[in-house]
Amino acid sequence: MSSTPLLLPTTRVLSLHDIAVDLDGHPALRGVDAEVHAGRLLAVVGANGSGKSTLLAVAAGLASPDRGTVERRAGIRVALVPQSTPLAPHLPLSVTDIVTMGTWGRLGAWRPSRRSDRDLVRDAIATVGLTDLARRQIGTLSGGQRQRALLAQALVQRADLVLLDEPMAGLDSHSRAVIAATIAHLTATGSGVVAVTHDVSEFTAVDDVLELQDGRVLRRS
Ligand SMILES: Nc1ncnc2c1ncn2[C@@H]1O[C@H](COP(=O)(O)OP(=O)(O)OP(=O)(O)O)[C@@H](O)[C@H]1O
Ligand SMILES: [Mg+2]
Repeated sequence: MSSTPLLLPTTRVLSLHDIAVDLDGHPALRGVDAEVHAGRLLAVVGANGSGKSTLLAVAAGLASPDRGTVERRAGIRVALVPQSTPLAPHLPLSVTDIVTMGTWGRLGAWRPSRRSDRDLVRDAIATVGLTDLARRQIGTLSGGQRQRALLAQALVQRADLVLLDEPMAGLDSHSRAVIAATIAHLTATGSGVVAVTHDVSEFTAVDDVLELQDGRVLRRS
């Protein structure tokens, strides 16, 4: 994959200020501040129900906060790999098809893909170790293989901000190592990455940690 940095490491790609979110009357987030910088990995930790996925939804623009401000750097591309992705088991799409979809944001879905795009897709599939399964129907993959395919889709988007919700949950040590290396690749090439986890040590290098408890920031380091 290209290793040209997207943005300078000091560039702030996302800034959340005093975010509050109510979900059906439940205070999912309260007064949360967070910043994401290009080339840095922010790990978001906290118990079940502490608001981690809600924070990613706000960061991705999928949920509007009831209070507070979300500033995304103008013109950035955002990629999100949700915690559990409902993919129809009989969806007639291969790993290559799913990853190719990641290029659509830059190409437009109706423009024929170029050789360079196909190379990008092939390289991303290789990066997550799925070359042998590139033609397999997505619904037949194991959970770990599927997470890696979705990560490859995020890779080809060359997103400035990559949001990963428990990317290693339930995966074996090989898949975890592949994903840790892929995240390191993302930050090395200038993406700002936010990864939700229950175990910060599973990442190769964490730059910042944000710990949530009951929707509030308990600790940052
Ligand atoms: N639609 C909803 N209505 C009411 N409460 C909700 C709704 N969605 C989420 N919540 C609550 O909001 C809180 C935060 O949920 P969230 O999914 O962000 O937690 P999380 O930290 O990602 O948890 P987990 O580690 O289990 O994934 C939880 O208490 C959850 O029960
Ligand atoms: Mg969650």
